[in-house]
Amino acid sequence: MLTQADIDWIVLDSVDSTNAHLCAAYARGERTGVVALLAHAQTQGRGRAGRAWVSEPGASLCLSIGLPIAGSQLPFLPICVGVGVAECLQASGVRVQLKWPNDILINGHKLGGILCESGSGPAEPYTVIGLGLNLGPVEVHSPPSGLKATFVQAHWPDEQPMLSNLDWAKRLVPSIVSAVDLGLRSGLAPLAALFSKRDAFLGQKVVLTDGQKPVAEGIAMGLSESGAYLIDTADGLLPVHAGDLSLRVQHG
Ligand code: ATP
Ligand code: BTN
Repeated sequence: MLTQADIDWIVLDSVDSTNAHLCAAYARGERTGVVALLAHAQTQGRGRAGRAWVSEPGASLCLSIGLPIAGSQLPFLPICVGVGVAECLQASGVRVQLKWPNDILINGHKLGGILCESGSGPAEPYTVIGLGLNLGPVEVHSPPSGLKATFVQAHWPDEQPMLSNLDWAKRLVPSIVSAVDLGLRSGLAPLAALFSKRDAFLGQKVVLTDGQKPVAEGIAMGLSESGAYLIDTADGLLPVHAGDLSLRVQHG
């Protein structure tokens, strides 16, 4: 069981990538157990499939959480993390949608992304959860997905003072850790129910791409019991496993 009491916190002014930094520390055996790393600035943030993650010092939350588990223990980890982030933001007054497998959206614009990476240290396996969240405005040019960026402050209740990056991290980490713990204890089903309530594409016409070209199209049917994303195509129900595949809404 993962508990909040076990979390070691690190706060850095600047780092290349919080994920790269934490993965290297676990791989060398310098870190074990549960570690949360917040950086105020990140110079080489990474997204899925080698894509770059843009951040602005002060405006971007750059957070990684390291866990002493193997990636194979929780193949649906990005779903757990998305649910933990969404529940935390909702409790703070900000409603988000989740785009399978790893994006956090508001009204079709990208608020944040999740990147999970795993490896082995000298004594135990590790998994690092990376979360990038736009708190203030960031400039993202020509995103390949066509998803424009948005930020928390633009959707923040007027009457509330905006939180600092560290305060956001202190709210988000327990929520993410408890969603991961739920996944470890109870499997996918309760997480899938919480994901489906916020599924950004459910019931919409979508195109599946391999990053370059379309590979299938149909209606988004949501998560299956095994964690695949289902698309109702002309040739029948297609279960899609994360890999490097991307979903896009089909307009027109
Ligand atoms: P998918 O997740 O469907 O495969 P994606 O384009 O969202 O597609 P990701 O790897 O999840 O791909 O995210 C990386 C992409 O996010 C980058 O290619 C860039 O377009 C976009 N991006 C980078 N930084 C930010 C940011 N701070 N806010 C919003 N979007 C960003
Ligand atoms: C994506 O949408 O592709 C995922 C983006 C994940 C970005 C975060 S920022 C903190 C952590 N460190 C990184 O280098 N990447 C993740």
